[in-house]
Amino acid sequence: MQNLANNSYQVISPARINLIGEHIDYNGGSVLPAAIDLNIKIKIYKRNSNLWKVTSDSQSKDFIRKLNDFSLSSILWHNYIIGVIFEINQIKPKIISGFIARIKSEIPIGIGISSSAALTCGLASGLNKLFNLRLTKFQIINISRNAEHKFAGVKCGFLDQYAVLKSKKNNFLHLNCFNLKLSYVPVNLKDYEFLLLNSNVKHSLSESEYNNRVLETQNGFNLIRKFYPQTPYLCSVSLSEIESIESEFSKKIYKRMLFSVNENNRVNEAVSALKVNDLAKVGKLMYESHKDLNELFEVSCDEINYLVGLSKKSGLVLGSRMIGGGFGGCTLNLIKKVHKEKFIKFISKNYYQKYHLKLEAFAVSISKSLTVRKL
Ligand code: GLA
Repeated sequence: MQNLANNSYQVISPARINLIGEHIDYNGGSVLPAAIDLNIKIKIYKRNSNLWKVTSDSQSKDFIRKLNDFSLSSILWHNYIIGVIFEINQIKPKIISGFIARIKSEIPIGIGISSSAALTCGLASGLNKLFNLRLTKFQIINISRNAEHKFAGVKCGFLDQYAVLKSKKNNFLHLNCFNLKLSYVPVNLKDYEFLLLNSNVKHSLSESEYNNRVLETQNGFNLIRKFYPQTPYLCSVSLSEIESIESEFSKKIYKRMLFSVNENNRVNEAVSALKVNDLAKVGKLMYESHKDLNELFEVSCDEINYLVGLSKKSGLVLGSRMIGGGFGGCTLNLIKKVHKEKFIKFISKNYYQKYHLKLEAFAVSISKSLTVRKL
């Protein structure tokens, strides 16, 4: 029998939150994500066979492929795996021979905390070590993002992959998605913490509407360039420039433009507030972000709006908003620890009465980026 443990690694790959700066990473905006203490663990081994095999404790159908078969699957999580191997193969052709990866995941899927980037970055990092590929972090970020674009069909930005690979414990990552410059903003939450509330809804439009927003904002930006040809990217436009050509846009595209500029400005405000530890201001910006995501960018939904509204009404939460792509998933809440139990009880009860859905609550802390160790 072959010794599978001879050359084997364990990857711990985190989920992420994003404090503010939603839906602007694909327009050069700035974002403020952080890895959290919910992880995917991947054990990966070489194998003397002509198969790639991946199993997952949260999925029923194993991924089993003959080497170099990159055809699309009807199972989404299989496509992430094919995408990662395909993208690696573009850079280092035919090096990935037989392997087995076993995944154990604590990250709920489809709730807006990027289980997909944890998977793609995790697998790419594991394969990198296992086959001694010497890929840089930036290459792994691109491999994962390309896998998402080409194999899952979501034209995402850089937010998730950077958060997984570049986070630091107790810091937010301040990333400019135009020039990819990053810095760290330390967080001192004192008596407060971040609480995720999973609405347990995911509306089917999420992927198609995500790509629609990418297109709508690109169209809006093309129009802006006709009047302001020097503008490098959408989020660098000023509010007054947009307002000066309001009549050129359709109502819908104008709202998308306003949103992108407002949200980008809020990121800068949030960084300044974090630097002086003004958590009340951070919370206020979170509520404002949610309002605009709902009214101007139209990526929220009734259930999530209800949760954010109730958080505000409760008086127990400094800030609350949807996170991730939208149309369901989670709200991110900034709450004083002593209020947590009372708040969860209150909001779960009301949510159940209104929607007959169970609310799940996770208190999360801000953690480090992905790690790989030899087993
Ligand atoms: C998803 C995408 C990210 C980002 C967020 C919204 O998580 O993968 O690139 O656009 O939605 O901020």
